[in-house]
Amino acid sequence: MNADGRTRLNQTPEWTALAKHREELGEVRLRELFAADAGRGARYTLQVGDLHIDYSKHLVTDETLRLLRELAAATDVFGLRDAMFRGEKINTTEDRAVLHTALRAPREAVVEVDGENVVPGVHAVLDKMAGFAERVRSGAWTGHTGKRIKNVVNIGIGGSDLGPAMAYEVLRSFTDRDLTVRFVSNVDGADLHEATRDLDAAETLFIIASKTFTTIETITNATSARNWLLGELKADQDAVAKHFVALSTNAEKVADFGIDTANMFEFWDWVGGRYSYDSAIGLSLMIAIGPDRFREMLDGFRIVDEHFRTAPAEANVPLLLGLLGIWYGNFHDAQSHAVLPYSHYLSKFTAYLQQLDMESNGKYVGRDGREVDWQTGPVVWGTPGTNGQHAYYQLIHQGTKLIPADFIGFVEPVAEMSDGLKAQHDLLMANFFAQTQALAFGKTPEEVRAEGVPEELVAHKTFKGDHPTTTILARELTPSVLGQLIALYEHKVFVQGAVWNIDSFDQWGVELGKVLAKRVEPALTDGAEVPGLDASTKALVTKYRELRGR
Ligand code: F6P
Repeated sequence: MNADGRTRLNQTPEWTALAKHREELGEVRLRELFAADAGRGARYTLQVGDLHIDYSKHLVTDETLRLLRELAAATDVFGLRDAMFRGEKINTTEDRAVLHTALRAPREAVVEVDGENVVPGVHAVLDKMAGFAERVRSGAWTGHTGKRIKNVVNIGIGGSDLGPAMAYEVLRSFTDRDLTVRFVSNVDGADLHEATRDLDAAETLFIIASKTFTTIETITNATSARNWLLGELKADQDAVAKHFVALSTNAEKVADFGIDTANMFEFWDWVGGRYSYDSAIGLSLMIAIGPDRFREMLDGFRIVDEHFRTAPAEANVPLLLGLLGIWYGNFHDAQSHAVLPYSHYLSKFTAYLQQLDMESNGKYVGRDGREVDWQTGPVVWGTPGTNGQHAYYQLIHQGTKLIPADFIGFVEPVAEMSDGLKAQHDLLMANFFAQTQALAFGKTPEEVRAEGVPEELVAHKTFKGDHPTTTILARELTPSVLGQLIALYEHKVFVQGAVWNIDSFDQWGVELGKVLAKRVEPALTDGAEVPGLDASTKALVTKYRELRGR
């Protein structure tokens, strides 16, 4: 029994039933499941907004899905979901509401935190962002010397970088191509150096994105950017106002840094960093694509929010995807989950999902404060196809690990490409469809032999198949579709955290490294004696100082 009165997850009858079912199913053969059910391919599909979801190539039967939904019911996933949408403080370790869904709520909606409706504030910030974005895009906002802004550099890290950086790539064909938009996150000076070395400071706007405005990497880079700008312009502090804006919850720290709080775009502690790019954190994106496209993206988020909130369990896509992940992670010992987009524009999509998923569900302590004794969040990884096919797909096809994967593809190539390049799209998508087919159904030894392959190579050329995939297909990659995809993954992660009984909205695990880095730094610079430094790290620090000639 848990401290919160709940039965331990892996002692519930629903969990036990799934474990028994898994045993009874044994080796699931997708060839057999499809042969036994001609309608499977059509039946195991769902639609949410513009997203067509095919889950027929999963190692599941109707009974598996029923048992998984029972587990969701027993763990009250929908109860927690409703509490989240209502603004209850479900992030218990930080005593915070979790309301990224309010960031895309319509103007007339009412969502209360501590008795206050937060929706008017959300729209006030969106309107302020829109006004500012239009001024930058039109040239009305000029730099200190009166020059028009042509370059935007977002400085932030984690959730204050990955979301806008990813979305800027995804929506590149919707961006103002006369603007250069760059993202600096790494405290390695090389990042800022490369981002600014060819820019005219007089035409450059820095957006300092930090929820807390205390993150050392961001504040260090922001300080260096300020020094660079003032040095290049040979100007004093006054120049900062026209070249620096802040996105933060912390007005005091923003003012301390020297940014006019009139140029601060606010968000709130009920928005987690990794759930924040549709808040003020998306300002760089809004400048790039314009406020109307940004709002279309928010509409896309909202479509999936509404679906998650209202669709019954059997038709609820985030619930389904979350439960499938649990099926593999907890009942098939899968350790990782691949996300494989067949779109060059989604090159940073999986990196974004890594924070969303792994920072949310990489926890071994449950909401009740006890260690869990079941697997939680998977390792999320992947890069765009078809590049991955020529790199690591070998292991997915013939390795010894089970790697469930999401394949994401689009029917239409991006509109602005030439007809010649658009013609390549069918080849891209042929790969997309062929891969999930090969992964699911493989190639039997008989099929290999029938091709005349010598006997000693038959085993090598055989593909066992039964590698599970979800196919997510949309007609076009639009701002709305991006919003739909992100909301889909946000809620999938939510479902899994709810079942595993962990707080998906804190991130205490990143603290220790931060504290130790602060402690170690003086040892590197001044050779200071750091109390409590272990022998290995101490020797490495000595080596570092020696090689740096200190
Ligand atoms: O260290 C992890 C983290 O707190 C993330 O959760 C967050 O997105 C990132 O750092 C950046 O934080 P901030 O926006 O406060 O600078």
